[in-house]
Amino acid sequence: MRYFFLIYALVIVFVISTFGFRGDKFKKPPIRIFPDMDEMDFVKGQKPSEFFSDGMGSREPVAGTVAMGHTVGVTAESELNGFANKETYLHTGNFNGTNYGKGFPEELELDRLENVTALVTRGQEVYGFKCAACHGASGNGEGTIKANGFVSAISNLRDSKLVEGNIYDVVVNGRGNMGQQGRDLPLYDRWAVVAYVKMLQASAKADYSNPKIKEIFDAGSK
Ligand code: HEC
Repeated sequence: MRYFFLIYALVIVFVISTFGFRGDKFKKPPIRIFPDMDEMDFVKGQKPSEFFSDGMGSREPVAGTVAMGHTVGVTAESELNGFANKETYLHTGNFNGTNYGKGFPEELELDRLENVTALVTRGQEVYGFKCAACHGASGNGEGTIKANGFVSAISNLRDSKLVEGNIYDVVVNGRGNMGQQGRDLPLYDRWAVVAYVKMLQASAKADYSNPKIKEIFDAGSK
């Protein structure tokens, strides 16, 4: 027991002489077992920094940044990627509020093949995350929503007789048990999914006994 007190006293002396009293000030940096984020690189306003290769601490604004209180000019591209609500066929899918249009708006410039490919490719993506759960991957109306009994009847898009402008309108505004999808999809994505629905219909009607057609569809479904 004598030794215990002796060792105890020595330990206290050792600890205090190594670490000092609480609140003491040292010249050396403290021992930190868990440094957390006590020290890290940071940028001082308007000062250079070695962190970035150009040596500037402050960064340039991201391309396309619009200062508060300013507006940007509308380009053809920004219109397609936006949610504006104008009266033209591009925005409504119909003419004069009455007749649904057949075909795609000229703004999409589908006279160029690469634009058609890009539109349908995007349409396939949009269909996958926005429509397939209800209408099924092939468009036959047998998606997981029906399989789980949430909605009993869902249109088979492969048989739909609707023209492009009308499909666009259903996508944007919804119908019956189908809710509006337009608020989540910019103009381009809406027309893209319309194009993809038309593709599904074309594939449903395709004559697979024709070897040329079979070859095209087999290549596309890989
Ligand atoms: C919540 C499930 C659901 C989702 C998601 C959904 N639909 Fe529908 N859709 C329906 C139902 C149900 C109907 C039938 C509505 C009615 O006529 O009462 C329908 C009808 C349609 C019609 C009309 C078909 C016809 O010939 O009358 C089109 C076109 C259509 N949907 C396209 C789409 C597209 C494209 C998407 C994705 C952007 C989509 N739907 C997303 C459930 C859905």
